[in-house]
Amino acid sequence: MPTDSIDRSRLRVLTERERAAFADRHPRSAAAYARADHLFGRVPMTWMNKSAAGFPVYLDRARGARLTDIDGQEYVDFCLGDTAAMAGHSPAPVVAAVTRRLADLGGASTMVPTEDAALVGAELSRRFGLPAWSFALTATDANRWAIRLLRAVTGRSRILVNSYCYHGSVDESLIVVGPDGRPRSREGNVGAPGDVTLTSRVAEFNDLAGLARELAHGDVAAVLMEPALTNIGIVLPEPGYLAGVRALTREHGTYLVNDETHTFSAGPGGATAAWSLDPDVITIGKAIGGGIPVGAYGLSAALAERLTGRTDLDLIDMGGVGGTLAGNPVSMAATRATLAEVLTDAAFTGMIEVATAFADGVRKIIADHALPWSVAQLGARVEYRFTSPAPRTGTASAATADAGLEDFLHTYLMNRGVLLTPFHNMALMCPQTTTGDVDRHHEVFAAALGELLG
Ligand SMILES: Cc1ncc(COP(=O)(O)O)c(C=O)c1O
Repeated sequence: MPTDSIDRSRLRVLTERERAAFADRHPRSAAAYARADHLFGRVPMTWMNKSAAGFPVYLDRARGARLTDIDGQEYVDFCLGDTAAMAGHSPAPVVAAVTRRLADLGGASTMVPTEDAALVGAELSRRFGLPAWSFALTATDANRWAIRLLRAVTGRSRILVNSYCYHGSVDESLIVVGPDGRPRSREGNVGAPGDVTLTSRVAEFNDLAGLARELAHGDVAAVLMEPALTNIGIVLPEPGYLAGVRALTREHGTYLVNDETHTFSAGPGGATAAWSLDPDVITIGKAIGGGIPVGAYGLSAALAERLTGRTDLDLIDMGGVGGTLAGNPVSMAATRATLAEVLTDAAFTGMIEVATAFADGVRKIIADHALPWSVAQLGARVEYRFTSPAPRTGTASAATADAGLEDFLHTYLMNRGVLLTPFHNMALMCPQTTTGDVDRHHEVFAAALGELLG
């Protein structure tokens, strides 16, 4: 339910005012958008049309926690490429490693491995505790390939996910719990290959009884989940929930996959290390490449052994797992540098401190205005949601979405040099984000609420 202390006509008037100011400040971006006749939806990827202000700003340059658009407006970037730039934009060690590979040594795409890949595998093992790693170019593909492998070893057909999860454009994940409590396709599911209720099962996050009920069918190869939901606001696990998931999956012979693509913000080894979790598989992408495309999945020793023992599976050629560019020399060089020199243990300590300042400040502003909103923090990542107490399931969180309020806040913030992720109110800290940047957000956020609430 949208928060009801908001005067909706005032919200509309203020949003129109902010959109007009945005258009005035962005003539070059507006012209670039108008000219893009030969792009489907006018943008390189259709999701870039998710823009609170009416059209996207176009990138000129970005470095660290700062982004500048082609109209010369500079932003403190709390969006950070929806996590892909959690290492900050173009970190120097990544630029050096990629330049060395591309310009000095040469070889962007080859069919032979580089030594970097093994070093990345070893570092991911140290951080996440799983010994056997393989690479993709996106987290979506890491999830897809992990799913195939787990179907193969279990001989079971279904994947279970949480309602209102996001794991990339993975067919099996586009399922939710409907208002009648029954599973159904997620709204807007584009061109599904078949009925998702036949390939998947779904349970609410934080609902062990629901999970037990679904696993009891005995046909679930794997539970694919984030240790905290991050794509429908941040929904944190309640005490005992994740241990319960692990116990239930073991009891039912179902593998457990932790998708750490976003929960990596919890610390150097993601939520898995921060909360001492013990999954069979980890999937990850985005941030570990320092902005260069990469995805990865890690397998337990037992699982890796079971898979390599299966001579009937084509893991070499056209069996459905793999891609030509996966594990390419540039991705591997960038990932090695990001993990060794940028998103280090020490960097996380600083990022989490700054995120804590962000969360504390937002809580105070919300309290000053007596708003029934909540704030959740997951290490270096913070999100405010227009409801309190914080939702405990994805479905409950989805029900609190308030597009009108979000559009106003995002446009107001952008007009004053602050960028949040366009999809919800997520703010992420990179190693270069400062408490001064956080103060700037708070100043503008407080001003926005002051104007809105009178
Ligand atoms: C948890 C999670 N997994 C997977 C993905 C997919 O990542 P990509 O778009 O890089 O394939 C995302 C993207 O937001 C994500 O949030």
